[in-house]
Amino acid sequence: MKTRITELFGIEHPVIQGGMHYVGLAEMAAAVSNAGGLGIITGLTQGTPEKLANEIKRCQAMTDKPFGVNLTFLPSVTPPDYPGLVNTIIESGVKVVETAGNNPAKWLPQLKEAGIKVIHKCTSVRHSVKAQDIGCDAVSVDGFECGGHPGEDDIPNFILLPRAADELEIPFVASGGMADARSLVASLAMGAEGMNMGTRFIATQEAPVHDNVKQAILNASELDTRLVMRPLRNTERVLTNPAVERLLEKEKAMGSELKFEDIAEEVAGVYPKVMTEGDMDIGAWSCGMVAGLVYDIPTVQELMDRIMGEADALICERLARFSTA
Ligand SMILES: Cc1cc2nc3c(=O)[nH]c(=O)nc-3n(C[C@H](O)[C@H](O)[C@H](O)COP(=O)(O)O)c2cc1C
Repeated sequence: MKTRITELFGIEHPVIQGGMHYVGLAEMAAAVSNAGGLGIITGLTQGTPEKLANEIKRCQAMTDKPFGVNLTFLPSVTPPDYPGLVNTIIESGVKVVETAGNNPAKWLPQLKEAGIKVIHKCTSVRHSVKAQDIGCDAVSVDGFECGGHPGEDDIPNFILLPRAADELEIPFVASGGMADARSLVASLAMGAEGMNMGTRFIATQEAPVHDNVKQAILNASELDTRLVMRPLRNTERVLTNPAVERLLEKEKAMGSELKFEDIAEEVAGVYPKVMTEGDMDIGAWSCGMVAGLVYDIPTVQELMDRIMGEADALICERLARFSTA
C-alpha cells in the first residue's frame, strides 16, 4: 500500500510502532521494520548517548530497513542528556525521529540538517498544527483511547482524526486504539495516511518483554484501563491492577493537594519491574483500551500480513459493495 507516509519514510506498509518505554528495544523495532512497517527504538529507555548508540547498532545488525528513534521530552528534575542523544541519533545514521511529550522546535534545525524526517506525536489539533508550522514532516495524532499519555482534552479519534485532516497539510497517522485492518482502513477513511500502534505490538512474539505482560494484554478487555495522574495534569492510561486502584484512592482522598511524591511508589521505576521481570502488580504501566481487541500473540510478520491482507479485502470487497457508483 502506498501513502504519503510510506513514501516519506521509505517503508512498505503505513504502519508505525510508537516508542514504548522498555518495549521499544532493538528486537521490537527490527521486527516491525523487517515486516515492512516502521519500528522505533525508545531513546529514553537507553538513557545515555552511549547506550543509545549501542542499541541503534544492535538494531542495524538485525535489519537493513529504515527504523526510527523516539525522543520523549518530559519535565524532569534531572533531565536526560538530550543534546547527546540527538548527536548520537545523527551520528548513527538514523533517518527518522518520533518526538513526543513537548514541542520539539529546539531540536528540529539540527535533525533536519542531518536529513532526518521528524514525526511528532501529539494529542490535539492545535499541537498538530504547531508541529506543522515549526517544520515537522508528519504528525502522529494520538486519540483519547491511546495507551500512555492522552493529554487533557479527551477527544477520541472519531473526532480528532477528521479534525486533524481538516487542518493539516502534512501527512499524519492515526494513533491510539489501533489494532487491525479495520483500524487502518477507518483511519484512511478519516484522512490519515497510516496508523501508529503501541499496545498491539506488545502482544507479539518478538516484543522483548516478559510473557506476563503479553498475557495481561491478551486477558484484558476494553474496560480494564484507568486514567491516573489527572490531578497532576500528566494523565496516563494504564492497565488496572491493585497498585493502580491504590493510586486512584490516594488521588480521590487528596484531591488538589496531591503531589508526585504521594504516588511515587506506584509510578516511579515501575517499567523494568513490569516489562523485564514480569511483576504485573508492582505499579502503573501504560496500556491502551485496544487491549480489548487483542486476541492472540502472533509474530510481527503474521500481524502485519494479516492487517495488510484484510485491509485490502475490506477496501475492495466490503467497502466496494457500498459504493453507489
Ligand atoms: C507500555 C507503553 C509505553 C509507552 N511509552 C512511550 C514513550 O516512552 N514515549 C512515547 O512517546 N510514547 C509512549 N507510549 C505511547 C505509544 O507510543 C503510542 O502512542 C500509544 O501506545 C498508542 O496507543 P495504543 O496503545 O492504543 O496503540 C507508550 C505506550 C505503551 C503502551
